[in-house]
Amino acid sequence: MEMIGIIGAGQMGAGIAQVSAQAGYRVLLSDISIAAATKGRDGIARALDRLVAKEKLSFEDAQAAVALIEPVGDVAAMADAALVIEAATEREDIKRRIFADVGAVLGDDAILATNTSSIPITRLAQAAPDPARFMGVHFFNPVPVMRPIELIRGLATADATVARVEAYAQALGKTVVHANDAPGFIVNRVLLPFINEACFALGEGVATIADIDAAVSLGLNHPMGPLTLADFIGLDTCLNICRVLHDGTGDPKFRPAPLLVKYVEAGWLGRKTGRGFYDYSAETPVPTR
Ligand code: 3HC
Repeated sequence: MEMIGIIGAGQMGAGIAQVSAQAGYRVLLSDISIAAATKGRDGIARALDRLVAKEKLSFEDAQAAVALIEPVGDVAAMADAALVIEAATEREDIKRRIFADVGAVLGDDAILATNTSSIPITRLAQAAPDPARFMGVHFFNPVPVMRPIELIRGLATADATVARVEAYAQALGKTVVHANDAPGFIVNRVLLPFINEACFALGEGVATIADIDAAVSLGLNHPMGPLTLADFIGLDTCLNICRVLHDGTGDPKFRPAPLLVKYVEAGWLGRKTGRGFYDYSAETPVPTR
């Protein structure tokens, strides 16, 4: 089975490593240090243990998946990977530096893909070793649960690159959708105006946080209300994607809601900081307005 390199052992990278290993791929998982990569692998082992406890996965299959994941301290180890997926921090300077490091070792036939949620693929391809073997592969959080993968080709992406990444995505059991390299691709193009509008509604006093979430979640049969989902994604990430949509299209309909900007300026970024639209310090999240 081919080897997959995954750069970034945070929530997204670890999720991608988990589903890849469960599909039988050998995985090299890297982060800024071997300790961070190992922490990512340990988190995957715990997630698989929970599946075993719920009788969703056999003990043997969980052990086999963990054994396929090797934490590595730097990308030099990825010379033998057929596909390297970058799932590092959503900052273009960091991604460009990673591409330069990977570029030094990437095999002649290997593909480099990015899990960026919003940075244009064609622009990022300029920092890739070969733009023909570069594309976007956008997973959703939590990766083991969410079905789709958006595949995004840049202007120079070769058909063979798309075909090989599509085969990998299908081997994971995911549903593949193809998007053009337009701001926000498909899901975030539709999702962020939805979340942003909930922030406008809250800021304009249409309803409380709890009522906006209850109304939209129950009224549209969504698993989470838009403000809960914003906290789950991270308000800084939401704001960043709104800005990408706004800047990339020049269309004022994408302007970020002032309340969203204010929460980010306050450092209230959602679950990851313990406070966003909800306060997560108690066992049950409490709305903050
Ligand atoms: N990893 C693996 N499995 C997980 C998980 C995780 N992090 N979180 C939840 N699950 C599993 C649970 O084990 C459970 O499995 P089971 O039904 O087989 O027992 C199932 O998902 C349901 O979980 P819970 O009962 O704990 O809780 P919920 O029913 O509230 O589901 C949720 C949690 C799956 C997160 C659900 O609320 C949901 O789907 N929310 C919407 C998530 C969403 O929209 N994600 C996309 C975000 S946008 C994005 O990622 C793009 C980016 O670019 C911004």
